This record gives sequence, C-alpha cells and structure tokens, in this order.
Amino acid sequence: MRPKVAVAIKVGLVAFLLAPAGEPRAEPATPAREEDGKFFDAEGNPTYRIKADGTVDWYTYSGFRRYHGDCHTCHGPDAAGSSYAPALADSLKNMTYQQFTEVVIQGRQVARSGNTSVMPSFGTNQNVVCYLDDIYVYLRARAEGALDRGRPEKRDEKPQAAKDAEKACLGG
Ligand code: HEC
Repeated sequence: MRPKVAVAIKVGLVAFLLAPAGEPRAEPATPAREEDGKFFDAEGNPTYRIKADGTVDWYTYSGFRRYHGDCHTCHGPDAAGSSYAPALADSLKNMTYQQFTEVVIQGRQVARSGNTSVMPSFGTNQNVVCYLDDIYVYLRARAEGALDRGRPEKRDEKPQAAKDAEKACLGG
C-alpha cells in the first residue's frame, strides 16, 4: 500500500469514528453548510446541492464519473443494480455515510445458498478512495430522488479545494 493511500484511509477512518451516528434518510436533503463548494447536512455528512435549473455541485458530477469508472460494471449504470449486485440507488436509502464508507473500504463477502457474494475492497484503489465522498453524494442524490438517470447536464466548476485535495490524495 502506498503511504499516501494509507494516510487517506486513516483520515477516512478518523472521520468515520468521529462522525455522529445519524439516522439513515430518504428525503431530498437541503444542505446545511457549504465549505469551498462542498456541501454537508446538519449531521456533518457530505451531501449534494442541485439547483432549480438542474445544475449539480462539482462533487455530485465527479461522483457520477467515478461511479461509472469503478462501480457500474457490477452495480449497473445510474446505480440501478444488476443481477449480480444490488441497486445502490436503493441501498443508500437505508445506509448511513459511515456504513457506506466501511463497506467500500473494507469490502464484504456473504455466503448465500452455496454462492459467495463478493463486494471487493477498494481500500487501496486511489480512483475510489480519493473520491469516496464524491461517489457517496452522487449515490445519495440518486437514492433521495434528487437526480435522474444519466449524466448531469449542468455542473459547477471544479473548486480549488477539490483540486488541492485530489493532488494531496493522489500524491501528485
Ligand atoms: C466486482 C463487482 C463489484 C464492484 C466492481 C463493486 N461492487 Fe459493491 N457490491 C458487490 C456485491 C456483489 C455486493 C453485495 C454484497 C452482499 O451480498 O452483501 C456489493 C455491495 C455493495 C454495497 C452494500 C449495499 C447494500 O445494500 O448493503 C455498497 C455500498 C457497495 N457495494 C458500493 C460499491 C461502490 C461504491 C463501488 C465502486 C467503487 C462498488 N460497490 C463496486 C459487487 C461489486
């Protein structure tokens, strides 16, 4: 494991341990707070912001792209699910941010009627770890019915904070 990735995972885990538990929610969320183009709910969990004209925040757009880079092969386009893996647009209705990050970082194996269902661990995949919040807010928007299927047509510019965080995480 490259040191930068280990750091990213540690930061993720600390956030995971410090964050309040929070009830799973399935209502379109209005962000409580903005920090350099990134949005948070009242519990401090990352969320999306979609304007009335359909413009999505940068992280939601980025999450759409990252999801369709590493997750859609199993979980289906637009998080709609496949015969192989569950529809995350449904799963996220009943999962907290903490539960989501835990499954994606650690992976999960479940034995069901003679077959083993495998969610791979993405803890060492920079294309996922460095964009975990992006993927989360995209899926959250899908789960809460705030975002239709397909590529968002309008998006905010990439914030400087996103460029800085990406550089630090990728080790560029
Ligand atoms: C190789 C196929 C595969 C890939 C790629 C994959 N997953 Fe999964 N994932 C699964 C399977 C299968 C399950 C169901 C595991 C089980 O039976 O509990 C799962 C479960 C999950 C769950 C838990 C869902 C629930 O309802 O409990 C989450 C969250 C998740 N995956 C997120 C992701 C994300 C985010 C990505 C991309 C970074 C991803 N997965 C990529 C196969 C995959």
